[in-house]
Amino acid sequence: MRRILVTGGAGFIGANFVRMVLSEHPDTLVVNLDKLTYAGNLENLAGFTDHPNHVFVKGDILDAKLVEQLVTDHNIDAIINFAAESHVDRSLVDPGVFIETNVNGTLTLLKVALEKKLERYIQISTDEVYGSLGPTGKFTEQTPVSPNSPYSASKAAADHLVRAFGHSWGLRYNITRCSNNYGEYQFPEKMIPLMINNALNDKPLPVYGDGLYVRDWLYIYDHCTAIWKVLTEARPGEIYNIGGNNEKTNLEVVGLILDRLGKPKELIRHVTDRPGHDRRYAIDSSKIMNELKWRPSVTFEVGINRTIDWYLANETWLRHVVSGEYQQYYASMYHNR
Ligand code: NAD
Ligand code: TYD
Repeated sequence: MRRILVTGGAGFIGANFVRMVLSEHPDTLVVNLDKLTYAGNLENLAGFTDHPNHVFVKGDILDAKLVEQLVTDHNIDAIINFAAESHVDRSLVDPGVFIETNVNGTLTLLKVALEKKLERYIQISTDEVYGSLGPTGKFTEQTPVSPNSPYSASKAAADHLVRAFGHSWGLRYNITRCSNNYGEYQFPEKMIPLMINNALNDKPLPVYGDGLYVRDWLYIYDHCTAIWKVLTEARPGEIYNIGGNNEKTNLEVVGLILDRLGKPKELIRHVTDRPGHDRRYAIDSSKIMNELKWRPSVTFEVGINRTIDWYLANETWLRHVVSGEYQQYYASMYHNR
């Protein structure tokens, strides 16, 4: 039996990964360590919290004793680190917690992985560590790391630490750098679910600046299958870019959402831009496609329709996540913007 410690497994990508592993790879024990910050939500694991191969533990990746104990008690052979502060806009308001969790938290996990001689440590990173592209070209694994936001700087710092642990002490690691994910269970601070939620409520859709910023959208399930391939098939020490090959401007995405929900384009509201906003991300995924034979399973059109259907069918989930703290967050970010 494969025995993995997933951190941040109550967040968007982590929860989807846990759900996929428990559904499709029954010979796997998943120990899931999550602090349940504003972004962590046990409702993301509905139907799986009592699964016999799933142990959920509420706790912090900065708690070295707890991490060590979980690895020992469950005889863990790999850590997959999803836990992070993940939103660029929040990092521009309060960068400190990004350094704590994303850098110091990663360091804590690395020390345990090394000390316990784990078979593998997987760091879930981001294409944002490469910085921003002009109108042409794509990020490859050789693109120099050049992060522009406090969020991406903290992720880049963590990536460098992972690499240094491999270089200095032989830690068996992989780093994955994916493009923007979208899909089921994404918290509506990120662009796609925020726009879906606003459109459903006939509220203005706040498009930053001219709306011509480009992201390369990756469907969540396809990201999860890529991570599983890296965990089970990759050689240690390799970095893999994972992208959806779906470059779209923000205005194109917002237009699609409005069309699909039968809402008017007049809901679009151009608002003050994000400081230092990266113009374009695009991923060259040829390494993972050639070496590990990974392929995305859906086009953007299929994935976005599936995602919108899911938000329509999960109105209770959405209502819960936009109550409470989210209202203050939204007011502080968007009122008078
Ligand atoms: P998320 O914000 O939805 O979830 C993060 C999870 O980590 C939450 O469940 C939260 O409770 C948990 N967490 C935060 N601090 C913690 C701590 N100190 N200890 C334990 N748990 C803690 O994020 P996500 O979108 O699921 O992203 C997961 C990973 O993927 C992150 O590392 C992020 O940088 C990376 N990533 C995300 C995207 C994207 O499009 N969402 C793109 C590229 C990379
Ligand atoms: P986001 O989902 O925050 O991901 P990231 O900044 O990590 O790429 O944003 C995706 C794009 O959408 C980005 O160009 C910023 C833009 N955006 C808006 O125009 N309005 C919004 O309210 C949000 C949250 C994002």
